[in-house]
Amino acid sequence: MTRHFTDIDDLSAGELESVLDAAGELKSQVRRGEREPLLERQTLGMVFEKPSTRTRISFETGMTQLDGHAIFLGPDDIGLGEREPLKDTARTLSGYVDCAMVRLFDHDDLDELAAHATVPIVNGLTDDAHPCQTLADLLTVRETVGFDSRVAWVGDGNNVAQSLVLGCALAGVDLTVATPDEYGIDDDVLARAGDLGARPTTTDDPEKAVADADAVYTDVWVSMGETGGAEKRAAFEESGFQVNEDLLSGTDARVLHCLPAHRGEEITDDVIESERALVWRQAENRLHAQKGLLAFLLGAL
Ligand code: CP
Ligand code: NVA
Repeated sequence: MTRHFTDIDDLSAGELESVLDAAGELKSQVRRGEREPLLERQTLGMVFEKPSTRTRISFETGMTQLDGHAIFLGPDDIGLGEREPLKDTARTLSGYVDCAMVRLFDHDDLDELAAHATVPIVNGLTDDAHPCQTLADLLTVRETVGFDSRVAWVGDGNNVAQSLVLGCALAGVDLTVATPDEYGIDDDVLARAGDLGARPTTTDDPEKAVADADAVYTDVWVSMGETGGAEKRAAFEESGFQVNEDLLSGTDARVLHCLPAHRGEEITDDVIESERALVWRQAENRLHAQKGLLAFLLGAL
């Protein structure tokens, strides 16, 4: 059966552990100057409706390191959902590539592609979820503060936050989510986390969330494609959601951010440039985590 990766809870807890273990091993190999050709002559199609730095480069580099190949298809190349129905694109892609990674606006479009593809569809970000980011986040947490630590999300209940909620539930990481009330995590995501045995603690108080946190995670207040940005930014600013030294004072918390960051909005320049920040490790870990994921989905582990 074709395994898709539409969100992190498409993996069981054991499978997540296997992917992270593989990622750690592949990272060590790269450090030793080795490249294991696990996906020799295999092709990844990469379809983007939105811009990207990390996702595009880490997947393409990952395929090169695994001895495979990646094809970049930007918004003007495929005309996804415009030139032909999504299901026709899914079936056509399935005849050419071994796996397709897609970055889309509408999560329902991802589900439609997955319903008709006979090769794995990997979610490279939708408006609702960013599970490849979560893999890298969990690898970073495991390498640094550890899975027995406390993580606090401070910001929008967005795609990155929602997949993190599910990933922390799967991995058994203690997560507190601080969002303004009107920008919280979707109820269905909280219910799915509950099904995995661990709903996060939720609050609208950033100070309470970070008080005993080992790592504090934030992301932009306005995501790609969102409208009403000025009003939303003002709501976050007024309610003290910026991750700055004042908020973090009295804690030794490390700081996570999926990037790109908007310095002066959700995070200050001094925090992201400080010893607290794990953000560059997180960005690099996209590469290793996704190599582990691709090897898993394509039966190469
Ligand atoms: N974190 C992340 O997905 O970055 P890009 O948007 O640059 O791919
Ligand atoms: N929440 C952000 C993440 C970017 C990687 C966005 O969707 O724009």
